[in-house]
Amino acid sequence: RMNVKKISTGSQALDGLLAGGIETRTMTEFFGEFGSGKTQLCHQLSVNVQLPPEKGGLSGKAVYIDTEGTFRWERIENMAKALGLDIDNVMNNIYYIRAINTDHQIAIVDDLQELVSKDPSIKLIVVDSVTSHFRAEYPGRENLAVRQQKLNKHLHQLTRLAEVYDIAVIITNQVMARPDMFYGDPTVAVGGHTLYHVPGIRIQLKKSRGNRRIARVVDAPHLPEGEVVFALTEEGIRD
Ligand code: GTP
Ligand code: MG
Repeated sequence: RMNVKKISTGSQALDGLLAGGIETRTMTEFFGEFGSGKTQLCHQLSVNVQLPPEKGGLSGKAVYIDTEGTFRWERIENMAKALGLDIDNVMNNIYYIRAINTDHQIAIVDDLQELVSKDPSIKLIVVDSVTSHFRAEYPGRENLAVRQQKLNKHLHQLTRLAEVYDIAVIITNQVMARPDMFYGDPTVAVGGHTLYHVPGIRIQLKKSRGNRRIARVVDAPHLPEGEVVFALTEEGIRD
C-alpha cells in the first residue's frame, strides 16, 4: 500500500472513515439503494480530485463514465462554485463519456489505457453505475454465469488501470435495501446483485433522515469498523 494518495469526499466524517479519503491505486465501490448518494459522491469526487493536495485533491482530472444518464453539469457547477473554483476549468477537466450498453462500456474502458497513459493528470475514473447495463442485458439466473464472467473481466481491467497508473477508480452499484441490511451480511442482501470477490474497498450507503446519509466500510482489514453520517447539501457532500 505504498504511495497511495487520497481524494477528500467533502465530508470530514466520511474522510475519517476512509483514513483520509478515496485512494489511488484502488477500486472503491459505493453500493446502496436508490437515492443513497452514490451519484452525488461521484460528482463531488470529480470536482475534488481537481483541488490542490493541501485542500484534499490531487490537482488532477477525472474520467466520468455515465451508464444511466444521471450526470449533471449543473451539479458540477454548483459544487465547483461552492469551493471557489473556476467553473470552466473544472468542467474542462472532466472527460464525460456516456456508455449506452455493456459492449460500449467495456470498449470505453479498453480505450482508457491509451488516454490515461497519454494524460498522466487523470487521477480519477468513475463508472456510475457499473452494473446497470449488465443487469438489463443479462437478466435472471439463466444469464448469471455469462454476466458475472463479463463483469468480472471489466472490473479487473478497471483495477489494473488503478494500480498501473496510480488512479482512484470509483464504481457504483445499486443494491436494494432491506431492514436488517446494515447489520446482516450485505453480500446476501435480498435483491442481491452485490459484486463478489472484487478487489478494493466497498462502501455501503444508506438513507437516513432528510439529507443525511450513513456510510459504512465493508470488509476492509486496514480500515476501522464503524459507520459515519454525512449530508447531501446544495453545495455538495458535507458533514
Ligand atoms: P440511484 O442512482 O437511483 O441508485 O441513486 P443514487 O445513490 O445515485 O442517489 P443520488 O446520488 O442520485 O442521490 C439522490 C439524492 O441526492 C436526492 O435524494 C437528493 O437528496 C440529493 N440531490 C440530488 N441532486 C441534488 C441537487 O441538485 N441538490 C441537492 N441539494 N441535493 C441533491
Ligand atoms: Mg445514481
